[in-house]
Amino acid sequence: MDSPFVLVNLKTYQEGMGSNAHRIAAAAEIVAKESGAVIGIAPAFTELHPMSHHYAIPVYAQHIDAITPGAHTGHILPEAVRSAGARGTLINHSERRLTLADIGACVESARRLHLETVVCTNNDATSAAAAALRPDYVAIEPPELIGSGVSVSKADPGIIERSVNAVRAVNPDVNVLTGAGIQSGECVKIAVDLGTCGVLLASSVVKADDPEAVLRDLVSLL
Ligand code: G3P
Repeated sequence: MDSPFVLVNLKTYQEGMGSNAHRIAAAAEIVAKESGAVIGIAPAFTELHPMSHHYAIPVYAQHIDAITPGAHTGHILPEAVRSAGARGTLINHSERRLTLADIGACVESARRLHLETVVCTNNDATSAAAAALRPDYVAIEPPELIGSGVSVSKADPGIIERSVNAVRAVNPDVNVLTGAGIQSGECVKIAVDLGTCGVLLASSVVKADDPEAVLRDLVSLL
C-alpha cells in the first residue's frame, strides 16, 4: 500500500485559525517527514494560500461550489482554490452537504483543474453513489460520531468495512478514508486494517494542547 494518508480538517475552529493553523501545519510537516505518512490539512479558505506557500504538506479546501468564473458572489470558485495552492478539496462534508448533482459537477470541475477530490459520505449506500462519480477518495464519516470523541473505528467498524466493499464493487480505483472521532494510532490502524488508505479527522488534533504529539501517536502503529 502507498503511504497512509492522514487529512486534518481545521473546520472553523478558533484553534485552527491564523497562528494556530501555522502551528498545526508545522507539526504536520515535522511528523510527516519523520514517519513517511502523508499528512495533509484542510484549513479555512482564507488560510489556503499561506498554508500552501509556507509548508511542504498537501493542502485541501474544505469545499468548492459547482460554478464557473463569473457573477457568483459569495461562492467558492474551484479555479480560485487551485490558484491559492490547494492540492485538492473536500466535497459534501457532513457540515456542508450538497445535492448529488452538485457533487457530480464539483468532482468534474476538480478533475478538469487537476484537484484531488475527497467526497464525504454518511453510509455505505452513499459511499457507493459517490464512488460512481470517480473521485480520488470517498471518506465515510457517520455524522453522529463527528466531534463526539467516540471513534468510528471502535464504535462502528462495520460501516467502514461495508463502505470499503461498496466502493470496491463500484470502482476499485477509488480510495477510501474514514473519519469521526479518530484520536489515536489504534483508531488509524483499525481503519487501515479494514481496507481504507487513511483517515479524515479534526478535533483530536485541532483542539489538542500538543498537536505534534497527537499526530505522532496517530501514525505510530503504521
Ligand atoms: O472532517 C473531519 C470530521 O468531520 C471528523 O471530525 O472532530 O470527529 O475528528 P472529528
